Amino acid sequence: MYAHLQQRGAERPPVTLSTLAQMRQSGERITCLTAYDASFAQLLDEAGVDIVLAGDSLGMVIQGHDTTVPVTMDDMVYHTRAVSRGLQRAFLMGDLPFMSYTSQDQALTNSVRLMQEGARIIKLESGSLQIEIVEYLARHDIAVCAHLGLRPQSVHKTGGFRVQGREHEAGARMLAEAKALEEAGADMLLLECIPAGLGKQITEAVHVPVIGIGAGPDTNGQVLVLYDILNITQGRKPRFVKNFMDGASSCSDAVARYVADVKSGAYPAPEHCF
Ligand code: KIV
Repeated sequence: MYAHLQQRGAERPPVTLSTLAQMRQSGERITCLTAYDASFAQLLDEAGVDIVLAGDSLGMVIQGHDTTVPVTMDDMVYHTRAVSRGLQRAFLMGDLPFMSYTSQDQALTNSVRLMQEGARIIKLESGSLQIEIVEYLARHDIAVCAHLGLRPQSVHKTGGFRVQGREHEAGARMLAEAKALEEAGADMLLLECIPAGLGKQITEAVHVPVIGIGAGPDTNGQVLVLYDILNITQGRKPRFVKNFMDGASSCSDAVARYVADVKSGAYPAPEHCF
C-alpha cells in the first residue's frame, strides 16, 4: 500500500541520524549549508549536501536585520516548510529562534511545529541553562542539535560577534557543557566561532556528530551560510567564510566545490580558523 513512499528516494536514500553517526565513525566529513527556500534547498540536495539548515540567520540575510533576534517562530515555520519541499536526500535541521525555548513546554510545542513542516532535528543555542530543555525534548523523541560557542541570539548580552572560549576557563566550561548536553540526549553538536584546538577537544570528548562553523578542521563536519559562500552577503565577512563563487560557473558549481572541499579536508584551511 505504501510502495510509492518506500520507492521515493530509493536511488538516493535519505540521510538519517544513523547515516551521520556512521560518517563520524568512518571519518567521512559531513557537509551542511543553510537554505531558506525550496529552490536553493533543491540545488543543495542535488549537489549532495548532507544536512540543510533552515537557520535563523535568515533574519540577517533574508530579512536584513543586524542580528537574528527579531526572527519569530512563524518566520521559522514558513521557511522550514519551503526548504522541506526542496529536499529529497538531505537531512533537514530546523532552528528554534530567539526566546522560543524558554521553558520545556514552549520548546516542545515549537519543536513540534518545525518537525511537522519536515524538520528531522531541532537546533537550539545551548549552554548549561538549556540542559534540562534538551533532556525534555530527547525524552519526547525529538532529535536535538545543541549549538555552542558563539550564540548569535545572545550577542546583546555577550558583547557582539566574537570568538568564544579563547581563555582556558571559558574553554573548559564549554567542554563541560558539551559533555553535559550530550549526556542530556543531544544527538548532534554545532560549534560556532571557537579556537580550532577547542573544536578538536570537544569533538574528541563526545560521541555524537559535531558540525563546526569557524571551529577548525577537526570537527566531523562543516556548516556555512549559503549567501556567504555564494558571495551574496555584502560587507566584512567573518574569517571562516570562503567565497566558493570565485572561479565557479554557477551557484550549483560553487556548492559542488564546497562539498568537495569539505569532503577532502581542503576547507577549512588555516586562514579560516582561529
Ligand atoms: O542560523 C544559522 O544559519 C546558524 C549557522 C550560523 C550555523 O545557526
